[in-house]
Amino acid sequence: MATERTLSIIKPDATRRNVTGKIIDKLESAGLRVIAQKRVRWSQAYAEAFYAVHKERPFFNDLVAFMTSGPVVMQVLEGDDAVATNRKVMGATNPADAEAGTIRADFAESIEANSVHGSDSAENAAAEIAQCFSEGEIVG
Ligand code: CMP
Repeated sequence: MATERTLSIIKPDATRRNVTGKIIDKLESAGLRVIAQKRVRWSQAYAEAFYAVHKERPFFNDLVAFMTSGPVVMQVLEGDDAVATNRKVMGATNPADAEAGTIRADFAESIEANSVHGSDSAENAAAEIAQCFSEGEIVG
């Protein structure tokens, strides 16, 4: 298996409920290492740029409003097949469909307040990591 990096974001519903440590424990227990991390409050412009790929979707404005409603924790995860491993631990986008034991099954409140984001491909992971972190902030 190839060592990969992926971008993970702990969303405002999870920071609000003080469960960032419990979420990071699930990621680490799956073999992923946190090699960069910062807690920030996104501006509207930052959220719109990050989710630009969804700008034509009907949920875009609500998504931006939600992602700017409180702090997020952005992190770079490294490990074997990190993109797929992270998505497996996260569970399905809609928590109603998420497998038992996944982050979204245990913590998400709704399809919007679904506790975590994870890159969906190695290519998008590289782009999202570059958008959120400078090289010097990533310490493997
Ligand atoms: P995320 O992986 O962060 O990528 C886009 C987000 O849009 C997604 O997780 C969901 O939280 C959010 N979203 C809100 N409504 C929908 C929807 N109807 N379908 C898909 N994603 C949605």
